[in-house]
Amino acid sequence: MSYQFAIENENYEDFASGRVLYNQHGATAFPVRLASELFQRGKAYLTGKGNDGPYRIYDPCCGGGYLLASIGFLHREYIETITASDVDPAAVELASRNLSLLTAAGLQARIGQIRQMHGSFGKDSHLAALASAEKLGKLIGEPFSPESLECFAEDATELSDRLSGQHFDMIVSDVPYGNQVEWKSESGDPVGHMLNRLEPLMAPVSILILVSAKDQKIDHDRFRKLGQIKLGKRRATLLESAEAR
Ligand SMILES: C[S@@+](CC[C@H](N)C(=O)[O-])C[C@H]1O[C@@H](n2cnc3c(N)ncnc32)[C@H](O)[C@@H]1O
Repeated sequence: MSYQFAIENENYEDFASGRVLYNQHGATAFPVRLASELFQRGKAYLTGKGNDGPYRIYDPCCGGGYLLASIGFLHREYIETITASDVDPAAVELASRNLSLLTAAGLQARIGQIRQMHGSFGKDSHLAALASAEKLGKLIGEPFSPESLECFAEDATELSDRLSGQHFDMIVSDVPYGNQVEWKSESGDPVGHMLNRLEPLMAPVSILILVSAKDQKIDHDRFRKLGQIKLGKRRATLLESAEAR
């Protein structure tokens, strides 16, 4: 695929996991440039349909929250709220720490922690992390309020009332591919069941962007395919609700 929006292959080292963003053993991440491209493709679709935002975003398989945190730092001005869930409570805990970096208090706490580590160990990597934290703080501009960020543990393949009444403009998720992370679900058709759960959460003008393994086709009677992007081992499928006009 060719990038349409994140055209420059920038250096995203400020986003490296464990530098400012928190890391945890076994956590997966997501390429920052691709996250930015997907967000901007979603935004272009929404704007074209008259939804100028700011957008309510949700990732139902959020892992450590790298995808959402990257989008939050890079595209803050277009985002109203960020909601994240995952079946794994340890992933939710990491996502919640990573999303906290999008708030003024969370980023300050992280800077304090890195300063302390630098005081104790004096490593150059700590100074580099402090410089990155400062750059991320400038990049985000106006930080998110804690109330605009939500993180919770939930199986995305089961119907639930947890978000009933809420609607999202953009649902974006990097689902388990099977090589590093498997679905944790009783369902024989986890993607199908997840889409059943997500469709009622779609705002009238909204988009669903699902990243899956490149050989996994996403087909569901309650969604219409808008397009797809293939990149290496991944495929991103862009969908709208079949109810959308
Ligand atoms: C590829 S990882 C997502 C990584 C994430 N995009 C990030 O930026 O860190 C897929 C995630 O799906 C989660 N998962 C597996 N089964 C799930 C289920 N039934 N419901 C919700 N999440 C699930 C895994 O725990 C894992 O965190």
